Amino acid sequence: MSLPDELTIAQPDDWHLHLRDGAAMASVIGHSARQFARAIIMPNLRPPVTTTVAALAYRERLRAALPAGHGFEPLMTLYLTDQTTAAEIATARTSGAVAACKLYPAGATTNSQDGVTDLERLGPVFAAMGEQGLALLVHGEVTDPDVDIFDREDRFIDERLAPLVERFPGLRVVFEHVTTTAAVAFVRGGPATLAATITPHHLLYNRNAMLVGGIRPHLYCLPVLKRERHRLALVEAAVSGHPRFFLGTDSAPHPVEGKECGCGCAGAFSAHAALEFYAQAFAQADALDRLEGFASHFGADFYGLPRNTARVTLRREPWEIPPDYPLGPTRVIPMGAGTRLDWRLLAAAQ
Ligand code: NCD
Ligand code: ZN
Repeated sequence: MSLPDELTIAQPDDWHLHLRDGAAMASVIGHSARQFARAIIMPNLRPPVTTTVAALAYRERLRAALPAGHGFEPLMTLYLTDQTTAAEIATARTSGAVAACKLYPAGATTNSQDGVTDLERLGPVFAAMGEQGLALLVHGEVTDPDVDIFDREDRFIDERLAPLVERFPGLRVVFEHVTTTAAVAFVRGGPATLAATITPHHLLYNRNAMLVGGIRPHLYCLPVLKRERHRLALVEAAVSGHPRFFLGTDSAPHPVEGKECGCGCAGAFSAHAALEFYAQAFAQADALDRLEGFASHFGADFYGLPRNTARVTLRREPWEIPPDYPLGPTRVIPMGAGTRLDWRLLAAAQ
């Protein structure tokens, strides 16, 4: 089948995005606002966004940093800790600004040290979230040091996620940035309240891309890239038209010095070309006609939000990704730096 040269779709949303704060945030927010109408904003700042008051203040800072003319809407999240209360969930709901709460198992990833140590104890919070209609966004990896890093997602499903989904049938759960065949199967076989986001890097790269011929720290993220057969399962899920798989970039900018060093941190920055990366992956699978559902419809449907009415156009027009972009006082190395992308987003988001 020959590919079309242009594709116009409803404006997409990013259901998993790290924007950071301060000068770094001001440098990167425009990348997302150029493409997406809305985004779920991750709360793993330092200190983390654990209260509605903090989420509202963060939203103000985001709005103030937006380039003029962009209607980008940040959908806020709370960072769950062992101290989160059901009362805070009610406050979050009443504010109208908080769409979801994020569960980081303590120690799982960047800025997760204040995360949850005991899921059992958060029962009343999960129950309140179910009642109030706030979604639970899960970083699905166990943190036991004895568990191999490549097995951490699968173990989380069996030991934590499956029991949680069963125990709280009224709670909408998003299994974030899924990376394995087991995760795809679990979501497919799960109830209508269970969905997953898929990142562009997990669709485009396997672990060889990160480790063969030299170590590429800018592809190091968590959950870590997996084998090719897992990547293929993710592509299959993304292009399948299944409405419980949708776009979430997990774009996570780090200063170049934090990545290119003896112990580089986890996180891949993809916001500069997020939709174009997804278009690349869908085109490779000969499934561009499925991009709109994945990028622009299914997430909104799952969150119970209206679909966007504005439209954006991608054109087949090769361009080269720059070597770096500003990040506050320093630089961030973007995913695919110096390589060619076949698709370019034309219409500026309004
Ligand atoms: C994220 C970050 O840098 O904030 N890093 C990552 O590798 N994905 C945290 C996260 O979402 O795990
Ligand atoms: Zn993330």
